[in-house]
Amino acid sequence: MKFIEPGQFLLVFLVCSAHVVIHSSSGNEADRLSLLEFKNAITLDPQQALMSWNDSNHVCSWEGVKCRVKASHRVIYLNLGGQGLVGTVSPSLGNLTFLRYLFLQENLLAGQIPLSLGHLHHLKYLYLSNNTLQGEIPDFPNCSNLKMLGLGGNHLVGQVPTDANLPPSLYGLDISNNNLTGTIPSSLFNITTLAELFIQHNQINGEIPREIGKSRFLQEFSASGNKLSGRFQQTILNISSLAIIDLGTNYLHGELPSNLGSSLPNLQMFGLGNNLFGGHIPSSLANASKLFLVDLARNNLTGVVPSSIGKLKELS
Ligand SMILES: *[C@@H]1O[C@H](CO)[C@@H](O)[C@H](O)[C@H]1NC(C)=O
Ligand SMILES: *[C@@H]1O[C@H](CO)[C@@H](O)[C@H](O)[C@H]1NC(C)=O
Ligand SMILES: *[C@@H]1O[C@H](CO)[C@@H](O)[C@H](O)[C@H]1NC(C)=O
Ligand SMILES: *[C@@H]1O[C@H](CO)[C@@H](O)[C@H](O)[C@H]1NC(C)=O
Ligand SMILES: *[C@@H]1O[C@H](CO)[C@@H](O)[C@H](O)[C@H]1NC(C)=O
Ligand SMILES: *[C@@H]1O[C@H](CO)[C@@H](O)[C@H](O)[C@H]1NC(C)=O
Ligand SMILES: *[C@@H]1O[C@H](CO)[C@@H](O)[C@H](O)[C@H]1NC(C)=O
Ligand SMILES: *[C@@H]1O[C@H](CO)[C@@H](O)[C@H](O)[C@H]1NC(C)=O
Ligand SMILES: *[C@@H]1O[C@H](CO)[C@@H](O)[C@H](O)[C@H]1NC(C)=O
Repeated sequence: MKFIEPGQFLLVFLVCSAHVVIHSSSGNEADRLSLLEFKNAITLDPQQALMSWNDSNHVCSWEGVKCRVKASHRVIYLNLGGQGLVGTVSPSLGNLTFLRYLFLQENLLAGQIPLSLGHLHHLKYLYLSNNTLQGEIPDFPNCSNLKMLGLGGNHLVGQVPTDANLPPSLYGLDISNNNLTGTIPSSLFNITTLAELFIQHNQINGEIPREIGKSRFLQEFSASGNKLSGRFQQTILNISSLAIIDLGTNYLHGELPSNLGSSLPNLQMFGLGNNLFGGHIPSSLANASKLFLVDLARNNLTGVVPSSIGKLKELS
């Protein structure tokens, strides 16, 4: 399809609804300009993913781009994941007002995450994982529709975001494999919709906050490879939805709660390896009947392995 200039568009459709057409075609043109600026900030495109991004094609047929099917054809989807793109993430993406999905993971994008992405009210999924992004995590509190924020596998520094930096109904946060420091903020768990929290392989220290128990829908909590200290946080036992707990390679100590397994009936993966835990392995572990992976290696545990463990049919 040939790209239609705003003027032509207006002439053709004036009879029907001039107001809507003026509004929509100029909106689509703004999207086109934002995307061209994005392209300008890409210095190497080894798989020629952006070859179709030229004036011979309508913006809605550019590779990786999808538009709303309704009249205004605004860009709602941009997926250039895994294309080996080198360059930076242009702040112009913040002008794609209707964008819902932004997938730029698995590239070689450097520089900072543009603050302008925090203006995208319709954004649902944002994946910038596995690039070489630097600087701090910008604020996203106004992205009220954001469900998944994937920033893992970059060179990000600074603190773990709090509820003030994030949207209120976030489902998944992946900031693993960065260089984040400081503690896990207790206010993060004001986001009670949180189901997936990946903060593993950073430089995070301090204790796991009591408030984690407020995240009643948490299913996956990975915090291995940090500098966490203190005891096994008891309030974790209040999160019966938990399926994955990975706290390996930290400085956690003390005894494990005796009712561990009976409190967490949905537990499938339980990793506490390479910590300083002492005491006995709680026999209640066998009450978590879905367990298929248990890693308690390299601790200071004593006593016997409870024979009830043999009841775990899924254990591999
Ligand atoms: C424009 O995109 C088309 C693919 O849709 C491609 O065949 C053509 O070579 C591109 N033109 C330029 C100048 O890159
Ligand atoms: C975004 O759009 C505004 C106008 O709405 C414009 O002033 C600004 O230059 C645009 N920014 C980028 C980075 O494209
Ligand atoms: C990032 O890379 C890690 C390690 O290779 C991988 O497990 C993860 O799925 C990747 N994330 C994304 C969103 O591509
Ligand atoms: C969020 O919206 C408020 C009100 O419109 C504004 O004052 C604030 O600067 C926005 N924050 C960001 C990070 O966009
Ligand atoms: C973290 O910072 C250290 C020291 O500045 C550096 O050597 C390392 O490469 C960084 N790691 C990541 C994933 O950015
Ligand atoms: C968020 O959490 C902090 C600390 O856990 C608490 O003091 C604060 O009142 C909470 N805010 C809201 C709005 O729930
Ligand atoms: C679990 O939640 C109940 C109330 O919902 C609370 O009274 C109790 O203290 C919590 N237990 C832990 C260990 O946080
Ligand atoms: C845990 O398993 C034991 C048998 O190993 C059983 O006697 C006990 O009732 C179970 N507890 C719960 C809370 O399911
Ligand atoms: C390991 O346990 C023994 C007692 O069983 C205790 O004396 C020792 O301090 C513990 N070591 C660590 C590193 O916790």
